[in-house]
Amino acid sequence: MDKVGDLKKLEEEMAADRGLPLFGQANLVFGEGSPDPKCMFIGEAPGFHEDQQKRPFVGRAGQLLRKLIAEVGWKEEEVYITNIVKRRPPENRDPLPEEIEAYKPYLTRQIEIIDPKVIAPLGRFSMNYFLPEAKISRDQGRVFRLNGRLIVPLYHPAAALRGTGVLEELKASFRKLPMIVKGEGLVMMPSATGTESKGVKTPPQAKLF
Ligand code: URA
Repeated sequence: MDKVGDLKKLEEEMAADRGLPLFGQANLVFGEGSPDPKCMFIGEAPGFHEDQQKRPFVGRAGQLLRKLIAEVGWKEEEVYITNIVKRRPPENRDPLPEEIEAYKPYLTRQIEIIDPKVIAPLGRFSMNYFLPEAKISRDQGRVFRLNGRLIVPLYHPAAALRGTGVLEELKASFRKLPMIVKGEGLVMMPSATGTESKGVKTPPQAKLF
């Protein structure tokens, strides 16, 4: 089967999985975009508007995300947008660790099917899903290598709506994405095998020169 067919099958499987937390309480928001994206953006969980429309990032934060994508010269159809938890938590509360864990096998398969070269986790929860030791204020905009992919954590657009400083940093990181996707100007940092602290491994970083 092709990627589109595989994604459809995965979505149907998720929709029928009654064991998933939030099943029956909110709509499934699977994700949308190109099956061969320049970059796969991964947020936390759908909010009110996303639940209503069954589409990721369509509220205020989503409009900012889509504007930033356009500003770097990409069409929305050239990227893929999804979330780690694919149903809206009640009152938009933060996703619980057990929810993230329960949705993980599906996100893992979604990433395997799409096989993106670059993943941009949006916000702390999504960043820590890939990089458990990372700190958003320190590591946003940096480039990590993980399992053959480049991970570029970014501030969540909702955080950028709350403060102009964060917005400026988010914009600056966004401007680097096209070069990262093209693989231009990337060099490995000296610790090419990554670093380890208290048994937790932080993957190696690349940086733009
Ligand atoms: N915030 C997210 O993390 N995801 C969405 O889809 C919308 C808002």
